[in-house]
Amino acid sequence: MATIIDGKQVAAEVKARVAKEAQRLGDELGITPGLAVIIVGNDPASKIYVSNKKKACDEVGFYSEVIRKPEKTTQRELLEIIDTLNKRIDIDGILVQLPLPKHISEKAVISAISPKKDVDAFSPFNVGKVMIGESVFLPCTPAGVMELIKSTGVELSGKNCVVIGRSNIVGKPTALLLLQQNATVTICHSKTQNLAEVCSKADVLVSAVGKPNFVTADMVKEGAVVIDVGINHNEDGKLCGDVKFDEVEPKAGFITPVPGGVGPMTIAMLMENTLKATILKEKSSAKKAAKKQ
Ligand code: GUN
Repeated sequence: MATIIDGKQVAAEVKARVAKEAQRLGDELGITPGLAVIIVGNDPASKIYVSNKKKACDEVGFYSEVIRKPEKTTQRELLEIIDTLNKRIDIDGILVQLPLPKHISEKAVISAISPKKDVDAFSPFNVGKVMIGESVFLPCTPAGVMELIKSTGVELSGKNCVVIGRSNIVGKPTALLLLQQNATVTICHSKTQNLAEVCSKADVLVSAVGKPNFVTADMVKEGAVVIDVGINHNEDGKLCGDVKFDEVEPKAGFITPVPGGVGPMTIAMLMENTLKATILKEKSSAKKAAKKQ
C-alpha cells in the first residue's frame, strides 16, 4: 500500500514559511508583497482558481488585487492594464489567468508582463532561465510537483523519471526540473509507442495528461512515486486526476490524491514566487540607493 502524499499539508508548510518571511519584511522594512490577478471573461473554473489565489494572499499576509474584465475586453485594453501594473511599485507579481478569450493572443499578453513580475514564469525570458538552470521564478505547478517529491524523501539522482504530457506549462518544465536533479528523464506523449512499458520502468511517474483513468496499474512499477497533475471530472461530475487511484495505490510506494495533491501546491508556489519578486525588487532598489551615495 502506498503512502498518500498530503498536498494540503505540504502546501500549508510552504505558505507558513512564506507568511513568516512576509511578516519579517513588514516588520523590518515596512513592505508588503503585492499580487495582481487579471481575469477576463466568465470561465467558471478560472473564477474558482482566482478566488483561491486571493484567499491564499490573505492567508500569507500579501496585498492582492483582482482585476475582472468582461469577455469583450480587447487585447489592447489588456496590454494597457499590464503596462500600468508593470510600473506600479506596490505590485510585485502579475498573473493573467488563462485561458483568455480567443480574440486575445496569450503569447502577446504573457510577453508583455515584466519578467521581474512574471510570477507564473510563463514569459519566454523566464522559460529560458529555467531551461539553462538559472531560474528566477520556477513555474508553479512543476515547482509544486518537485516539492511533493522532495517530501517523500526519495532521492532523484540517477532515477528513471517518466513525465506523461509535453505542455509548456507542466510537462516540459517538470521534465527539466527533474533533469536538474540528475534524474534520467523520459517525456511521453500521444505519439509515444509502448507507453505502458515505458511508464512501468519509472521510479517516479508524473502524469499531466488531462484524462480520467489514464494511468492504470500495469503502467506503474512496484513502489514507484506517482504524481497526478490531472484535474478532470469523471462521468459522475466528480473531480478526479489522470490516475486510476484505487488500482494504482496498492502498487505504488507514494501517490498523490486528487483533490488534495498537486492542486494546493500550485498556489503555494505562486505565493513563494511573489515573495521572491518582492525580495528581488528590494535588493535591486537597495543596490541603486547604494550606488547613488
Ligand atoms: N490557468 C490554469 N492554470 C493556470 C496557472 O497556473 N496560471 C495561469 N495564469 N493560468 C492558469
